[in-house]
Amino acid sequence: MDAEELIARYERYVNPGLARALRFMGLNAIEKTGHGAVVVTEDGEEYLDCAGGYGVFVQGYQNPQIVAKAHAQLDELAMSSRILLNRPMVDLAEELARITPGDLQYSFFCNSGTEAVEAALKFARIQTGRTRIIATYGAFHGKTMGSLSASGRDTYRIPFEPLVPDIIHVPYGDAEAIAGIIDNNTAAVIVEPIQGEGGVIVPPDDYLPRIREMCDQTGALLIADEVQTGIGRTGRMFAVEHAGIVPDYLCLAKALGGGIIPIGAVVGRPSAWTFFDSSPLIHTSTFGGNPLACAIAKEALRVTIEEELPQRAATLGSHFLSQLQGLQKRYPQVITDVRGRGLMIGIEVPNAGVGGALISELFQRHILAVYTLNNEKVIRMIPPLVITRQQLDQVIEALGESLDTVQNILEDLLED
Ligand SMILES: Cc1ncc(COP(=O)(O)O)c(C=O)c1O
Repeated sequence: MDAEELIARYERYVNPGLARALRFMGLNAIEKTGHGAVVVTEDGEEYLDCAGGYGVFVQGYQNPQIVAKAHAQLDELAMSSRILLNRPMVDLAEELARITPGDLQYSFFCNSGTEAVEAALKFARIQTGRTRIIATYGAFHGKTMGSLSASGRDTYRIPFEPLVPDIIHVPYGDAEAIAGIIDNNTAAVIVEPIQGEGGVIVPPDDYLPRIREMCDQTGALLIADEVQTGIGRTGRMFAVEHAGIVPDYLCLAKALGGGIIPIGAVVGRPSAWTFFDSSPLIHTSTFGGNPLACAIAKEALRVTIEEELPQRAATLGSHFLSQLQGLQKRYPQVITDVRGRGLMIGIEVPNAGVGGALISELFQRHILAVYTLNNEKVIRMIPPLVITRQQLDQVIEALGESLDTVQNILEDLLED
């Protein structure tokens, strides 16, 4: 009854279409708190979260050390005067310079993933004096106008055309397609090291190195969108480390906020940051770099490193992936592929209907899962990296039961 009432208020005050979708999905639980990989409802029911707040909860729900830091900074100073000097912001920027690959050194702070991408696109334009951006089909970079223009799904793009001009899309994972169009007019190539919302697509090993080389040859800048892959998710602190390359701009958000606060960042190399020399205020954000978010983010990084969460993602991820491959062998009609890196794993099913049925079966077994936004045939598994092996085995057991049910439904349909 409580959930129904809340959905009625979604309908009245937030988004009637969304309210209808929530009702249709039978969502009847209201989140109240959480710990580790578990969300707890107002009724005290526990759900194991494999959707990880779309990638926000790397360090877990309400991580106690990060919450304590948040309280301490909140008691002192939350927002910046923006006139006096801001120590937590510089502390975070220095830490990012220390832990990001190569000579990535400078940070610009904002409040979300789309703002980080938006900033990187503007930086690339002003730094190079060029306008052309090469992006990929299936990409998800956010929903503000610039990021949307670089994103690769028509459903979200077409209603807002005309979008930002001079952005060309090519197939993801295909370095040759970039080679065919990149030239001395290209400002930047923007790419996710693993395409998240596109369906957890892992590109060939030489993809990023080849893009890096082509950018160097043409003077184009390389923007790595690590809003989803960053902060340990794929088994390394940053997914570009698997390829051994250094992008000119690295975009971060989601887990940088420790599951406690929104924050986004662009980290850039000195050679891609010279435009600020003559125009230090050319791109700014009132809330960006606020002491509260920066202190929390620095603690989130400390916890990620101290608890060795990237290594944990690598170890648990390969265990989970091999278990999922076992399920794929047992249920080939329902699971057509499993793939990923670290604890960023996609389960591909024949169509969105089968995916919906599987997600709903999992929900009934108190496991939260969602499909990827730009590819409804793929269910993503991106749980908090603090998830335990036992909890992952619980997910495998629930998946096994759910697959049994969905397979039976499919067989019944085929017989009819
Ligand atoms: C790779 C990537 N970039 C950008 C974004 C946009 O982030 P936000 O929703 O914080 O604007 C997302 C969100 O899912 C993402 O996955």
